[in-house]
Amino acid sequence: MLLLFFLSLDASEYGSLLFHGNCITCHHETKAISAPSIVEIREKYLSAFADKEDFVEYMSTWVKEPKEETSIMLDAIEKYGLMPELAYELDALREISAYIYETDFSKEHSGH
Ligand code: HEC
Repeated sequence: MLLLFFLSLDASEYGSLLFHGNCITCHHETKAISAPSIVEIREKYLSAFADKEDFVEYMSTWVKEPKEETSIMLDAIEKYGLMPELAYELDALREISAYIYETDFSKEHSGH
């Protein structure tokens, strides 16, 4: 029990670190500056993929290889241009996507 607790804590901390280190430069938590805010992206993805597994799978695969054809935010591409491809491992992108799924950024003011 205790071990499981620590393992899951580590996974989400890892996702959080990766997100704040790599995505926040373009995706602010609540404000849209050079890209849609993460709140906006999360809402859009949650409405398309309510199930965590589907959400994580679709988002991590898309971020691995951003494409207009598979985008669910075409209006954002029109407004900001297509997101550049970032050289991340799919496993890392899965951790980040799971962290985004689990986090209500509109209520999170920790600023980490
Ligand atoms: C260099 C700036 C930049 C960085 C860094 C960046 N993004 Fe983006 N991202 C964008 C822009 C611009 C868009 C809006 C256009 C689009 O959808 O392609 C976007 C769109 C998205 C979308 C919507 C996809 C869709 O369906 O269109 C997701 C999901 C996303 N980003 C996730 C991430 C994650 C996760 C990270 C960190 C690993 C990240 N982004 C890092 C610029 C960035």
